[in-house]
Amino acid sequence: MSATIQTISLQGRAVCVTGAGGFIGSHLCEQLVQAGAKVRALVHYNGRGDRGMLELIPAEITKEIEVIAGDIRDPHHMLRLCQGQDTLFHLAALIAIPWSYEAPQNYVMTNVVGTQNLLESVRICGVRRMVHTSTSEVYGTARYVPIDEAHPLQGQSPYSASKIGADKLAESYFLSFQTPVVTLRPFNTYGPRQSARAVIPTIASQLLSNQPELRLGSLDPVRDLLFVRDTVRAFVLAGTVEGIAGETVHVGTGVGVTIGELAARMMALSGREVPIVSEDQRVRPAGSEVMRLLCNPARAKQILGFEAQVSLDEGLREVLASVAGRLDQYRRATEYQR
Ligand SMILES: NC(=O)c1ccc[n+]([C@@H]2O[C@H](COP(=O)([O-])OP(=O)(O)OC[C@H]3O[C@@H](n4cnc5c(N)ncnc54)[C@H](O)[C@@H]3O)[C@@H](O)[C@H]2O)c1
Repeated sequence: MSATIQTISLQGRAVCVTGAGGFIGSHLCEQLVQAGAKVRALVHYNGRGDRGMLELIPAEITKEIEVIAGDIRDPHHMLRLCQGQDTLFHLAALIAIPWSYEAPQNYVMTNVVGTQNLLESVRICGVRRMVHTSTSEVYGTARYVPIDEAHPLQGQSPYSASKIGADKLAESYFLSFQTPVVTLRPFNTYGPRQSARAVIPTIASQLLSNQPELRLGSLDPVRDLLFVRDTVRAFVLAGTVEGIAGETVHVGTGVGVTIGELAARMMALSGREVPIVSEDQRVRPAGSEVMRLLCNPARAKQILGFEAQVSLDEGLREVLASVAGRLDQYRRATEYQR
């Protein structure tokens, strides 16, 4: 790391994670406990007491976490959640692009209003640093690649539009009230515990189920794929590097892969070569598919000292092993999606 980048230690600090029951949030909670932080984890309330992906992390880590069930749409609860916290990592969101075509208002209520509730709570409670989670989907199809932080924003789906709204609220809280928020903009993250709906678990579960063909949507989109442990390392840096409030920063690799190339790589790694069938119902509406997402990682290196460390093959092998261990759950989820 560059000599000019100063970080604080999280040892003994009170840190709160929203979206803790999700894919990235559960990995973040694990890394925060390992860094010695006192972790408060907000999971989305449900009547079953289900803690989402936190159920899958080792018990010796879970016992260190204070789990709270709630809903980011409730401003009063969010205010109580943030009391006494040093750092807030805000990851809770509705993220499925297809469902955002069906129920766009839910995306506004959760992603925009929910984020505003947290910004206001951070401001009132005097939280030292908030890391707000954006997404590369805010750019729509790239006008130039690699995409840097100055690239224009385009709401290519209601999901993307709701995240743009949330990002702009974060910007406004920094500019209007000096709320110490850093916006982290991950490109595509993959790894164990990712929802079955995402493309990499979909490919893995079909290959491991010995299906005679691989059914996918469009094979042409280009994605920049970052392994989840790398993504989470970037979150920790965004929460601990000093002097970066108000910044928006990408996290990605700078390497683009088409979905077709990804499928071929996973077939090679799993030893299962089958024909690929592109199915219409898996293709996004015309004008909404984002064709090229490729990160310019220079700013993350400059201000966070961040560079991806896990290679695509290494990451994909871990996903294949993890999906193999939970194949029934992945298969059921894939059936339900069809
Ligand atoms: N996975 C990726 O590739 C990727 C890429 C870029 C950005 N992101 C962003 O990272 C964050 C985490 O994504 P993820 O992939 O872990 O998704 P995820 O769906 O696994 O996690 C999101 C979590 O938010 C929770 N949530 C939803 N609505 C809520 C509400 N009203 N109140 C409280 N909790 C609520 C969900 O229950 C879920 O556990 C999101 O903000 C997403 O936009 C993800």
